[in-house]
Amino acid sequence: MIGTGFIGLPLALVLAEQGTQVYGVDIDENLVEAINDASLRLNDGEFQSRLESEAVRANLEASTEARGGDAFVISVPTPLKEPSKSPDLSYVEAAVESIIPHLEGGELINIESTIPPLTCVNHIVPLLEDAGFEPGVDVQLAHSPERILPGNVFEEIVANDRVIGGIDEASARRAAKIYEPFLEGEIYFTDLVSAELCKLMENTFRDVNVALANEFALIGEEMDVDMHHVIDIANNHPRVDILKPGIGVGGHCLPVDPWFLNEVDPEHTNLITTARRINDKMPDVTAKKIRRAVAHYDNPKIVALGAAYKPNTDDQRNSPAQKIVESLLLDGYDIVHYDRHIEEMEYDDLQSVLDAEQPDVVVQLVPHDDTVSELNEIQIEFDEREIELLQFGESRTPSLPTT
Ligand SMILES: NC(=O)c1ccc[n+]([C@@H]2O[C@H](COP(=O)([O-])OP(=O)(O)OC[C@H]3O[C@@H](n4cnc5c(N)ncnc54)[C@H](O)[C@@H]3O)[C@@H](O)[C@H]2O)c1
Repeated sequence: MIGTGFIGLPLALVLAEQGTQVYGVDIDENLVEAINDASLRLNDGEFQSRLESEAVRANLEASTEARGGDAFVISVPTPLKEPSKSPDLSYVEAAVESIIPHLEGGELINIESTIPPLTCVNHIVPLLEDAGFEPGVDVQLAHSPERILPGNVFEEIVANDRVIGGIDEASARRAAKIYEPFLEGEIYFTDLVSAELCKLMENTFRDVNVALANEFALIGEEMDVDMHHVIDIANNHPRVDILKPGIGVGGHCLPVDPWFLNEVDPEHTNLITTARRINDKMPDVTAKKIRRAVAHYDNPKIVALGAAYKPNTDDQRNSPAQKIVESLLLDGYDIVHYDRHIEEMEYDDLQSVLDAEQPDVVVQLVPHDDTVSELNEIQIEFDEREIELLQFGESRTPSLPTT
């Protein structure tokens, strides 16, 4: 397993639990040490308990150095270069280069990282050929993009369908052997570029649809209409399924993957890149709304709730909530940021935040289920203490009866 982060580690754990000998390779020494000591400090009990299990202790070993094996699974980062938004393939290339000295012939190389279309054919095949291995003949090559949802990793790794592209059928079928022992979902076999495209299209579909919902919400704001409410009604139509507008799109995948399509065909990605820009603009739009809403205070004390990029996780990657708070801090606002899902953020619960900070305004940026119920439970305090509550990402107008 080359790369034992959010994506590589769960697969390493699931395989090790079943008795497969897994050798996890990561350039992050601290992570390697933490895996070997079962001392990961993740805010996720399931990772920890699986890591401590007897089977994992016996079958999973981590190291910073690659070594030989029957199959290599690559799950290293594939970020964007800024400001060009072109893909940075250096991690994937380095991962392939690190295993080349350990290839003897007959091994499988299976890429799980999300990669731009034609990466396997134009980047990985030449690296292997230059080292004297013809993919499909001397070694097998497959791409099986990971599509699990952070926050629900161990359920989805088993339940989700899996797409496996191969340089030939034998490569794809061999990659399937990695997953078949635990997979409950279907496996769809295809070629390398179709597997690359499939993952990118799934994420682009969501990103474009979120942008549409965000644009509807902006129209509603101009017209002083609560679009959350209108969307609820519109979604009763059998062929309409408008997503929820929000404060922006974060995480590791949606803000990144649509640009991989733009990279290979800029002429036909106008809708896709426009959607990306709409979603990227939403944190600024939200910060502006907050500034307007607190303009009647002299020097308001603000508590912002939620720092994760989406509800019910502690994942802060590309978090719109953080961009909003950073922007308000830069403007000089007195703002405290709290997320009960993120350990290093002070305070045990919302009540303690209110008691200690005595805010004028509370801004709910991320509607974690437990934050919303906490807010409901202490709603009375808001009235008594005259705290103003601004909520984003939640419908505030109850739907009207249908008849
Ligand atoms: N996190 C998600 O939600 C998600 C979902 C689906 C797909 N993906 C894709 O999976 C891939 C991995 O993402 P992630 O979230 O696991 O990233 P991550 O940063 O959590 O983990 C990647 C790991 O790879 C290590 N690494 C980097 N270069 C290496 C090298 N040359 N050799 C060995 N280790 C190396 C890093 O130290 C890191 O620990 C990306 O392509 C991402 O787009 C992520």
